[in-house]
Amino acid sequence: MAMHKMTERDLNEAYAGESMAFMKYNIWADKADQEGRPQIARLFRAIAQAEKVHATNHWRTLGMVQGTKDNLQHAIDGENYEVDEMYPAFKAVAELQEEKGAVRSTYWALETEKVHAQMYAKAMGSVEQGKDASFGEIWVCPVCGYTGEGEAPDLCPVCNAKKATFKKF
Ligand code: FE2
Ligand code: FE2
Ligand code: FE2
Repeated sequence: MAMHKMTERDLNEAYAGESMAFMKYNIWADKADQEGRPQIARLFRAIAQAEKVHATNHWRTLGMVQGTKDNLQHAIDGENYEVDEMYPAFKAVAELQEEKGAVRSTYWALETEKVHAQMYAKAMGSVEQGKDASFGEIWVCPVCGYTGEGEAPDLCPVCNAKKATFKKF
């Protein structure tokens, strides 16, 4: 039987709230580390983990934890929506309202989501052939989030941050 609409809406709202809590606690943990408060950083990270458990349980109950092929398709659709509609529109509003910080953060996200969509599409190609994907080193700029695969450039192509700062996966 399909889930009742109210329960489905509530679980989506709870999933969104727990997801945001996970993210903000991790960001605040990094800040506590920068302030030299590692115990508080540890507390933020532990509680963030619990919020991830709650988000996972809600998301699973909503039927959104599927196989990797379906998950990749949802990921591609989400990144493409951000590239085609969401960030161009958000950035245009920020420009209209002369909100420089918002123009910058939406531009950084827009440029990054373009490569995310491409990387997920590459992964999908492999999954469609019944394989795992094959990636070189994947690197992420800590300033703008720009993401790439293989040999990293000396400077981030979006924000000019130095290669030595990039986080590798
Ligand atoms: Fe929670
Ligand atoms: Fe993305
Ligand atoms: Fe960057």
